Amino acid sequence: MKLCVVGSGYVGLVTAACMAEVGHHVIGIDIDASKVALLNAGGIPIYEPGLDDLVSKNKSRLSFTTDYAACADADAVFIAVGTPPDEDGSADLQYVIAAARSAASYMPDGCLVIVKSTVPVGTTDAVADEVKQVMAKRGVSAHVAFNPEFLREGNAVGDFLKPDRIIIGVEDDATEAALRRMYAAFNRNRDRMIVMDRRSAELSKYAANCMLATRISFMNDLSRLCDVVGGDIESVRRGIGSDERIGPHFLYAGIGYGGSCFPKDVQALLATGEQYDVDLPMVSAAWQANKTQRQWFIQRLMDAVKSQGAKKVAIWGLAFKPGTDDMREAPSIDVVNALLDAGVQVVACDPAATASAQEIWGNRIAYENEPNAVCNDADILVVLTEWLMFREPDWSDIANRMAGSYIFDARNLYVKEELQSYGLSCVNIGRGKSI
Ligand SMILES: NC(=O)c1ccc[n+]([C@@H]2O[C@H](COP(=O)([O-])OP(=O)(O)OC[C@H]3O[C@@H](n4cnc5c(N)ncnc54)[C@H](O)[C@@H]3O)[C@@H](O)[C@H]2O)c1
Repeated sequence: MKLCVVGSGYVGLVTAACMAEVGHHVIGIDIDASKVALLNAGGIPIYEPGLDDLVSKNKSRLSFTTDYAACADADAVFIAVGTPPDEDGSADLQYVIAAARSAASYMPDGCLVIVKSTVPVGTTDAVADEVKQVMAKRGVSAHVAFNPEFLREGNAVGDFLKPDRIIIGVEDDATEAALRRMYAAFNRNRDRMIVMDRRSAELSKYAANCMLATRISFMNDLSRLCDVVGGDIESVRRGIGSDERIGPHFLYAGIGYGGSCFPKDVQALLATGEQYDVDLPMVSAAWQANKTQRQWFIQRLMDAVKSQGAKKVAIWGLAFKPGTDDMREAPSIDVVNALLDAGVQVVACDPAATASAQEIWGNRIAYENEPNAVCNDADILVVLTEWLMFREPDWSDIANRMAGSYIFDARNLYVKEELQSYGLSCVNIGRGKSI
């Protein structure tokens, strides 16, 4: 099939490359001319494992443009542009609507529009109205579907090529048939397609992210209790994760979720509840608990900065999670800003996110490629992202390099007793009171 994918970000670029990989002819459309030029020159604007190989391998079927005229002979057009939070937390839909309008000016009769951006309930209906209005002027029409994306940054290519499920929100059989044809290569050994109406599909995406955010927030609440009463959140996690009804995933306590999806989607679902005057106390608690957890960690860190008279703090990990350079809503932003506000010198190491961090702080913090080097003369080391390179540190070398002895482990990677043998004090999450 001939496909256009509007938006060449984390979702659009992965969608375009994976659709080309299975034989579709794909044109990626983005308004960012420098991104398009980079992609056409063989570069990749984001860090996502395996994506560069996939894009270069499929370049005979994959190209990029800023020109919506590419939609003129498309069988289907994906919309995968951003839906960032507006000032009141609701999803800002201006990019989705603008993309739909631009594509509709060129799309041929019978074309399929597939909204892949995460959008509040009713948005795909609004896109359908917009598309209908624009296309009616040319005496043509289109089908409109919603197809949420569930890829995880850091594992996006694998998730797209081998999805757990493919949810499609459609209003007619012809649209379902077209989507089944398009996704056939991803759907061979069992039927992963779950077909529903567009509104249920839109809600399913928010429900999935808010459920996962709620699990994390629940464990974070318990971790603070563990710290006071002396329990170990890791034991509690293993204890409850073995219950089949609960399962082991998304039960890790930490510094609170960040990233481009959970914070904005939790806020957007709350905004939808407000818009329709429906109270969503669980979702609201998942949001409040996340803020509490983040602040609780930062408060402990700042208390240590004060008590130790810390002048220099080393940071391991800036990306919101391993495997990505994405720093949207990363916990590191709040942590580093609190340190800078207190006049502390910050030196950071992240294997992928240095360029993203430079866009935020420029030279207000220093960057190192080598994890142990950031520890030189540091009073405190804070570990914020569980990249593999931070899993088995040489504590003897680190203890020698550091001026102080505090290790703030926001991901529960380390064993307190082991660090003690090197003269280091480990502060982690919910593993008994440390300071
Ligand atoms: N990032 C994820 O892990 C993830 C996972 C599932 C769903 N989503 C959802 O997918 C959507 C896209 O997310 P993302 O992380 O890929 O965003 P992104 O910011 O990485 O990419 C968006 C791209 O769209 C382009 N764009 C904006 N307006 C445009 C227009 N009118 N025409 C053409 N291009 C335009 C931007 O230049 C940018 O390259 C969001 O709704 C997000 O919630 C994201």
